[in-house]
Amino acid sequence: MKNIEKVAVLGGGGRTGKYLVNQLLNKGFSIKLLLRKPENFTIQNSKIEIIKGDALDIECIKELFIDCQAVISTIGQRKDEPLVASAATKNILNTMKNYRIQRYVLLAGLNIDTPFDKKSPKTLIATEWMKTNFPLIQEDRQKAYNFLAESDIGWTQVRVPFIEFRDLTAEISVNLEDCLGDKISAQNIAKFMIEEMIESKFSRQSPFISAV
Ligand SMILES: NC(=O)c1ccc[n+]([C@@H]2O[C@H](COP(=O)([O-])OP(=O)(O)OC[C@H]3O[C@@H](n4cnc5c(N)ncnc54)[C@H](OP(=O)(O)O)[C@@H]3O)[C@@H](O)[C@H]2O)c1
Repeated sequence: MKNIEKVAVLGGGGRTGKYLVNQLLNKGFSIKLLLRKPENFTIQNSKIEIIKGDALDIECIKELFIDCQAVISTIGQRKDEPLVASAATKNILNTMKNYRIQRYVLLAGLNIDTPFDKKSPKTLIATEWMKTNFPLIQEDRQKAYNFLAESDIGWTQVRVPFIEFRDLTAEISVNLEDCLGDKISAQNIAKFMIEEMIESKFSRQSPFISAV
């Protein structure tokens, strides 16, 4: 696999996304960022190139991925907007295949199911809560997982509980069957996603990570 020098980031203007962008820069990566509203983005660095556009538009994804060797997404569904997860995932996977990009790390909630799960009653309650209260978003994210499972790209879907937007660096648990904790810091998520992008320890898997 090619060395990763430039990373395409989706959702980088969001709450977790900003931690991710800062850590990628600290590690020396160049970044191409897809932003719908670049005027709201405040991080300035010569290693950032901004592409204005929407993940639902495949032409924007094509422009974003030029010269990139890996893709990271922290995109989240915005209220009262078209469903984004499955459509964006389809655009991302198709473009990665055409450009021969092999690494894709994305963030999701613990509510997504995979056939390998052994969710505890607590995790099942959280999953059912999402299914009951946000059925369309849940279905769309599940559909996105199905696209991942069917593709031959080297993806990792990182599943997390409640995110604390703080600079914590506590020890974390990583588990392929169940989410063992109630929360995780955005700093830890960013660190894990970048390590996973580089090391591919959980390629084609959906680890749960949480604070110990
Ligand atoms: N927050 C939590 O406690 C929590 C818990 C578990 C899992 N998660 C998951 O973790 C991820 C990140 O969460 P977060 O709270 O950091 O998210 P967030 O702050 O809501 O940010 C979401 C990002 O997605 C972008 N986005 C949405 N639709 C887009 C589109 N069509 N095209 C391009 N960009 C688009 C938004 O851009 P705009 O600024 O342009 O809208 C924003 O940058 C999400 O997938 C979320 O479901 C969050």
